[in-house]
Amino acid sequence: MTAGTTLEARELYRFYRAGDEETHALRGTSVAVDAGEVVVVTGPSGAGKSTLLACLGGLDEPDAGTVFLNGVRLSHRPEQERAAARARGIGVLFQSGNLLPHLTVTGNVQLVQRLVRGGARQRPADVLHAVGLETRGHARPGELSGGESARAGLAVALANGPRVILADEPTGELDATTEAGVLELLRAEADRGCAIVIASHSPAVAAAGDRVIRLELGRIVGEARP
Ligand SMILES: Nc1ncnc2c1ncn2[C@@H]1O[C@H](COP(=O)(O)OP(=O)(O)OP(=O)(O)O)[C@@H](O)[C@H]1O
Ligand SMILES: [Mg+2]
Repeated sequence: MTAGTTLEARELYRFYRAGDEETHALRGTSVAVDAGEVVVVTGPSGAGKSTLLACLGGLDEPDAGTVFLNGVRLSHRPEQERAAARARGIGVLFQSGNLLPHLTVTGNVQLVQRLVRGGARQRPADVLHAVGLETRGHARPGELSGGESARAGLAVALANGPRVILADEPTGELDATTEAGVLELLRAEADRGCAIVIASHSPAVAAAGDRVIRLELGRIVGEARP
């Protein structure tokens, strides 16, 4: 692990068993992401992108291999400890489902902030300002446009000032302009030192990365710098 490495996966394996069928979702996948770096993971459907992100964020446990966050092992710890590490240091962004529908946008940000005890914390209004949603804090998710939803999801991911952002197809449902806006916001987070991993099929997302890793059948088969 080099000095600037924030997140590292070493030789991850993940198997799923359903009856007699065994899927090898990850087969010895290693990746290291530096502070300030945006890594895009591409590859065909079923390649293991979401599985990799889930393991990197401690949402899922690899069957073998290790994930390190800031040099400290994140994998193979009790779920509670992984959840605490995630709340403190990892912002997770999905294509949809980042927002609880019965809470306002501000309420969603506050909910995530309450998961972290103590510590310096941004005001929800400042988090919403950062994503250009300062006037939409009172809205419920159902009242937002697609682009506003994407930015509200991002606000939730950024609520605790994470050192890592994991985004799984964050722009999958967005038009090109909104996608560019989300990518700009993610780049701004990288510029303040965040390590970012984005799984995406979008050429625009790949072009915005510092590094593009291609996964096929759970293995890294290529790496490029756009
Ligand atoms: N919970 C699960 N149970 C069984 N198999 C699973 C499970 N989750 C994923 N898989 C399988 O693992 C493989 C990798 O899935 P994964 O979701 O990581 O792919 P992906 O690259 O994210 O694909 P997509 O581009 O469609 O999102 C696939 O073959 C998938 O069917
Ligand atoms: Mg996926």
